[in-house]
Amino acid sequence: MKTYLVTGGCGFIGSNFIRLLFEKETNVHVVNLDALTYAGNPLNVQDVKEKFPDNYTFIHGDVADQQVVDEIFHNYQINSVVHFAAESHVDRSIQEPLLFIRTNVLGTTVLLNTAMKHWKEQWEKNRFLYISTDEVYGSLPLDQPEKKFDEESPLQPNSPYASSKAAADLLVQSYYTTYGFPAIITRCSNNFGPFQFPEKLIPLMIMNMIEGQPLPIYGKGENIRDWIYVQDHCEALLEVLHHGKTGEIYNIGGSNEISNSELLNVLSEIVAEQTQVNPDEYEKHITFVKDRPGHDLRYALDCSKIQNKFGWNTSFDFSVRLKETVRWYLENENWILSVKTGAYQEWIERQYSNRLEDV
Ligand SMILES: NC(=O)c1ccc[n+]([C@@H]2O[C@H](COP(=O)([O-])OP(=O)(O)OC[C@H]3O[C@@H](n4cnc5c(N)ncnc54)[C@H](O)[C@@H]3O)[C@@H](O)[C@H]2O)c1
Repeated sequence: MKTYLVTGGCGFIGSNFIRLLFEKETNVHVVNLDALTYAGNPLNVQDVKEKFPDNYTFIHGDVADQQVVDEIFHNYQINSVVHFAAESHVDRSIQEPLLFIRTNVLGTTVLLNTAMKHWKEQWEKNRFLYISTDEVYGSLPLDQPEKKFDEESPLQPNSPYASSKAAADLLVQSYYTTYGFPAIITRCSNNFGPFQFPEKLIPLMIMNMIEGQPLPIYGKGENIRDWIYVQDHCEALLEVLHHGKTGEIYNIGGSNEISNSELLNVLSEIVAEQTQVNPDEYEKHITFVKDRPGHDLRYALDCSKIQNKFGWNTSFDFSVRLKETVRWYLENENWILSVKTGAYQEWIERQYSNRLEDV
């Protein structure tokens, strides 16, 4: 039996990863450590919990809490850590940078230290996979479409979110260099798909369209992002976890570069088709709002390393997956309701307010 500690498994990518892990592997036990912040929703893994009650354990706790993390390593024979838990929204990081430092930097260091202590240099049996982001590279210009970031590109993060991810990314690298700690880093582009909290562009736009709300878009909407379907990302993570080399970094991108305003037009058409509404109805709700400070213009990744080493590639057509994603948000009313009512958010705020103020 192989035991994975997945952090942030009630969030968007973490929950999709846990589901895929159980689909692909037998004889595994997943320990999901999640603080259930506003972005963590127990419903995201409800099906997994019901299907694999003996192989899935949820631990409600904070990655920066040394005692909780120690207890997990003490109570379970953890073979691999897959570390997703993070504060992940750039806008929030501009409002509240300290929270991002605490979870993303301190939390990662607590996990690194604890894994190191408990694994006692049995490195060959263990892996620590840190889920980093393309945002650590900073921004590319709009007028040089041939430029992309590869794994050797310098880190030039611009937002407090990206900087906190870059700081943790460097710490993980330093544990490999200093101690030979068995760490691997992946840097992925923008994900989309089911279970994404609707503060992020795609679910926010879908939900606002359905509800006839304004469709706010930063600046002129010309910022370009490279979108990857979440399942493609998770497949790549499994590949890296099993076949990647420790000390290495792997870019994971979707090769779907599109500007925010173009994306909004495509989404309007898809939602209109599925709800039988005239797309003009949605387009008239598009409102250009004051740009985000320090807003990166373009992200693009050179993924030849992971493609050449593992033959990995995205297996999904972008527009097909966008259509499926729209359908998922239209069909999953209970999930939407859970996000909107936020009962679990209020509860967690009460539980955690003291600890977070401790920083
Ligand atoms: N979403 C993307 O497009 C994207 C792209 C590249 C990399 N990433 C990285 O992937 C990871 C997951 O992203 P996501 O979009 O699923 O994020 P998310 O915001 O949907 O989920 C984050 C999860 O972490 C949990 N969490 C937050 N603080 C915690 C703490 N202190 N202790 C324990 N759990 C805590 C939350 O409750 C939530 O379940 C993050 O590290 C993010 O930086 C995301």
